Amino acid sequence: MATACRAMPVSTEEVAPSLQQGLAERVAAYHRDIRAEFPRLDRIAVAIYDSRTDLLRSFVDSSEGGNPFEHTMARLADLPELARVARSGGIRVIDDMVTHQASSASLSRRLVKAGYLSSFAMPIHHKGAFQGFVFFNSFLRDYFTPSVIRGLRPVADLVALTTVMELEAVRMLQAAVHTVRQMSRARDEETHAHLERMARYARIIALRLAPRRGRSDEWVEFLYQFAPLHDIGKIGVPDHILFKPGRLTPEEFEVMKQHVAKGCEIVEVMAGNFGIDRASHVDILHNVVGHHHECVDGSGYPLGLSGDAVSLEGRIVAVADVFDALTSNRPYKKAWTNDEALAFLTEQAGRKFDPEAVDILCSSQSAVRDIQRTFTD
Ligand SMILES: [Fe+2]
Ligand SMILES: [Fe+2]
Repeated sequence: MATACRAMPVSTEEVAPSLQQGLAERVAAYHRDIRAEFPRLDRIAVAIYDSRTDLLRSFVDSSEGGNPFEHTMARLADLPELARVARSGGIRVIDDMVTHQASSASLSRRLVKAGYLSSFAMPIHHKGAFQGFVFFNSFLRDYFTPSVIRGLRPVADLVALTTVMELEAVRMLQAAVHTVRQMSRARDEETHAHLERMARYARIIALRLAPRRGRSDEWVEFLYQFAPLHDIGKIGVPDHILFKPGRLTPEEFEVMKQHVAKGCEIVEVMAGNFGIDRASHVDILHNVVGHHHECVDGSGYPLGLSGDAVSLEGRIVAVADVFDALTSNRPYKKAWTNDEALAFLTEQAGRKFDPEAVDILCSSQSAVRDIQRTFTD
C-alpha cells in the first residue's frame, strides 16, 4: 500500500534540546553561555572537510551579523597554513588579521571586512582522521592570549565533539542504508560512483540556490549527505522488475513507482531506530526520498505535486540524479554526452525540472567535469 511521504513535525515540548536543535543553534547557545566570561569573543564557526575532494566548507557560524563564509568552499591545498595545522594537530593563532600575510588573502579579507581582527583555529580530529576546524574570532586585535586560549579550549573541544556527533549520526544512518542495500543485493543501476557523483552535483546546485532561498550551509551539507539515499525504497522492489533488462510493462512500472513510498517508510523506521526522528534534518531526508520523482508541472509521482509544493530538496536531487543517469552507461543505454544531457534538461526545465537548478548545473560544467574525472564507474 503506497503511503505519501510527509514532513516530520518538530515538537518543541517533548524532545530533549540536544535532539531538536541543529548544530548551528547549539553552537550559538555555547557562544551565549561563554559570553559572560569572554565578552570579546565575537564568533564561533565550524568548517568541515571532505578528504576525497580536499574541500573545506563552511558549516555553522554563531555570529549575529551573518557568516562571512556562508556557502563557501575552498581546497585545503590552497590554504597551506591550515593544512599544516590539520596535519600537526596544533592550533593556529592570528593576532592581527590586517597585517598577517595569509595564504588565502581573499578569505582573510572577507573576515577583516566583517570586522574580525584576530583568529584562533583548532582542527577537529576523529578516529585518526581530520574532520574540519573550529574557528574563534574577535573584533579585537591580539585577543587570543595564552590565558584566553586556555579558557576557550574546553569550549573548542565541546564544539568539536558536538560536530563529530552530528556527522556521525548521519554517517551511521548512511552506513545502515548501504548495508541493507548490499545484503538485499538490490543495487540496481545505482553504482557507488553514480551516488558519489549525483550527491556532488546536488551540492553544487544547493550551494548556489541556498542564498537565494534562505537556506544555511548546514542544509547544504545534509542535502549532500542524504542525496545518495534517494532510491533506498528499491530494496522493496521485486528482483524480476528491478533487474528486468528490457522495458517495464505499465503494471511493472506501477510496482517500480512504489519505491518512493517504501523509501519513506524505511526513512521513518530508521530515523526512529536511530533516535533522530524529531531532528530537523530528517525532514531533508524525507524530502529527498519522497520528492525525487515529482515534477514541477505536476506530472511526476507519487503525489503529482507541482511548483513550490515540490520541496527544494526533491527538485535539486531530481536534476542531479537524471543528469548522472543520462551521462552514465546503463545496461539498456549508452552514456549521453554532457551537452546532450544538458540540452534535454534545459528543454524540460519548467516542465519536469526546476529551471534554476538546471541553469546552475549548465553553468557549472568545469566542476561537473572534475567530479566525472574523480568518480568513474
Ligand atoms: Fe527513484
Ligand atoms: Fe539514482
